[in-house]
Amino acid sequence: MARIISITNQKGGVGKSTTAEALTAGLKLKGHSVLAIDLDPQGNLTHTSRASAKGATALGVLTGDVKVENAIQNTEMGDIIPAHSGLAGADAFITDTGKEYRLKEALENIKDNYDYIIIDTPPALGILTVNALTAADSIIIPAQCDIYSLAGIDQLFNTIKPVRKYCNPDLQIEGILLTRYSARTTLSKEVAELAEQLAEKIGTKVFKSSIREAVAIKEAQILQKSIFDHAPSSKVAGDYKQFIDEIDTKGA
Ligand SMILES: Nc1ncnc2c1ncn2[C@@H]1O[C@H](COP(=O)(O)OP(=O)(O)O)[C@@H](O)[C@H]1O
Ligand SMILES: [Mg+2]
Repeated sequence: MARIISITNQKGGVGKSTTAEALTAGLKLKGHSVLAIDLDPQGNLTHTSRASAKGATALGVLTGDVKVENAIQNTEMGDIIPAHSGLAGADAFITDTGKEYRLKEALENIKDNYDYIIIDTPPALGILTVNALTAADSIIIPAQCDIYSLAGIDQLFNTIKPVRKYCNPDLQIEGILLTRYSARTTLSKEVAELAEQLAEKIGTKVFKSSIREAVAIKEAQILQKSIFDHAPSSKVAGDYKQFIDEIDTKGA
């Protein structure tokens, strides 16, 4: 049965999609079967993986119009359920009783087919993120290495609490992943300490690996390739490899 991981932080630009891409591609390279689901109407993961946003998408899966099996596209990066821009209206049209369980129910049919299911979520705490957190076994919180970015984690925890209470009591927080740190300044002591404090407060850890800011990440996304494909020997690919080994302790 797949381990389902939601990559979530309501702040934009903190490396959610980049981390979802690296996890999907990196776990596949390690020999795992991986499905990525793009729940962000902006569709960054969909674009980087060269999946098509036309036809069956995560939108149809959530509305029940599409069978989940029919929404999966096989890309070089891995299997992907693409996003659709119409997801932007999800809070207005996914409103009926049981609305939090749409994704969880859809995944019942396919979760035995994968080792990992990675869900990229939008920069918002609405129904899409709640569906991801209800379906997931665990959450990874990417956070940019600055004080203001970290402060938002408190707010995220206020969404996790009711999801645990009403929808998914077993939801684990795997950890906080510090992203986009400047190699020149190294990780500042204040930021590292604040991250540790927050992690303790929400009952998790800060991952030992952190991800440096590197232009190779942006290049790979422009070329629509994974970081391991575009710059396999770069330091930032090494950061993500180390992080993936922290997640994937058992190996393929
Ligand atoms: N480690 C990194 N080094 C350089 N640029 C990065 C890195 N991680 C993310 N970015 C860039 O920062 C922007 C936001 O990253 P993204 O993963 O899309 O964040 P989110 O999904 O949280 O909004 C993107 O333009 C991406 O290319
Ligand atoms: Mg994103």
